[in-house]
Amino acid sequence: MENLISLVNKLQRACTALGDHGEESALPTLWDSLPAIAVVGGQSSGKSSVLESVVGKDFLPRGSGIVTRRPLVLQLHRIDGDREYAEFMHQPRKRYTDFAAVRKEIADETDRETGRSKQISPVPIHLSIYSPNVVNLTLVDLPGLTKVAVEGQPDSIVQDIENMVRSYIEKPNCIILAVSPANQDLATSDAIKISREVDPKGERTFGVLTKIDLMDKGTDAVDILEGRSYRLQHPWVGVVNRSQQDINKNVDMIAARRREREYFSSTPEYKHLAPRMGSEYLAKMLSKHLEQVIKSRIPGIQSLITKTIAELETELNRLGKPIANDAGGKLYTIMEICRMFDSIYKEHLDGVRPGGEKV
Ligand code: GDP
Ligand code: NA
Ligand code: MG
Repeated sequence: MENLISLVNKLQRACTALGDHGEESALPTLWDSLPAIAVVGGQSSGKSSVLESVVGKDFLPRGSGIVTRRPLVLQLHRIDGDREYAEFMHQPRKRYTDFAAVRKEIADETDRETGRSKQISPVPIHLSIYSPNVVNLTLVDLPGLTKVAVEGQPDSIVQDIENMVRSYIEKPNCIILAVSPANQDLATSDAIKISREVDPKGERTFGVLTKIDLMDKGTDAVDILEGRSYRLQHPWVGVVNRSQQDINKNVDMIAARRREREYFSSTPEYKHLAPRMGSEYLAKMLSKHLEQVIKSRIPGIQSLITKTIAELETELNRLGKPIANDAGGKLYTIMEICRMFDSIYKEHLDGVRPGGEKV
């Protein structure tokens, strides 16, 4: 199964790298059928912080105001050994081992597309992280929903952000990580509002409650965390991310995660919920869920892949011998990945079916 998720990852990347070239084939449909997890919520609700905790690494620009101004498509690849590095799709030959430099490049690449103003752009930044400490996941960090434009932003920005977010989460294959801060009334949560629109039954929405440590004294989040305030098919997960002060003081991720664990296990109200709270739990739960979704989608993905292979063969014959890095080379790569998927899929079926008959 691990293999299959990592192949889905590769396929997603290859399909995106191809860009326009795939428009007339089954590729866009194939890309849309692959599951990904999008993080949505109001500005400064803690989306980027949640993503970082799930990854277990500091690499995202965070802070007050509109920091995330382009979608960030983040692919996590679990690898053996103790190396850890990152690569951007717009810098194919550059390997980052310094994650502070990754953060800087996200900010720079955002500015390259949008100018230094607080404009937004729907053009995603693609980042891959390879590490022995991550679970195989594709996550999308999105600009935060807002209610008003600030100085230098066009009035349309509120609607533009909403449309951008909706374009990701309305796809039935999208798993929604709906982030709401515990120090605001859940009834006013932007995350809940927009996810309810596209997923009214809460079947593919995961509720994440941040800033539990910042709630007013004498109040707690138990009703929300136990699903009584707003019911979703999946259980709510509470997290405690680093505060701005922690960030300024460079509190590291390991210390932050330890403190988060201690917070839930030592607060009387949350003690009974502690085993299913926190970012580490969230990461494991998401990976497990993604695995189930992929399993259930395999037959559909598989038939698209068969179709894609056939189309790619025709296209490649037309283009002649492929040369690396041009369109033909990319098509060729995708075809190779599709073939791998095809064979792993068949092995998978063999494993499930008694007698191991071939499909
Ligand atoms: P985003 O705009 O939704 O991506 O939010 P960020 O992740 O950038 O967080 C906004 C601010 O809230 C930052 O200063 C974070 O340090 C802070 N923050 C996020 N989550 C928590 C939390 O659980 N507790 C506390 N105390 N601060 C948090
Ligand atoms: Na922010
Ligand atoms: Mg952000």
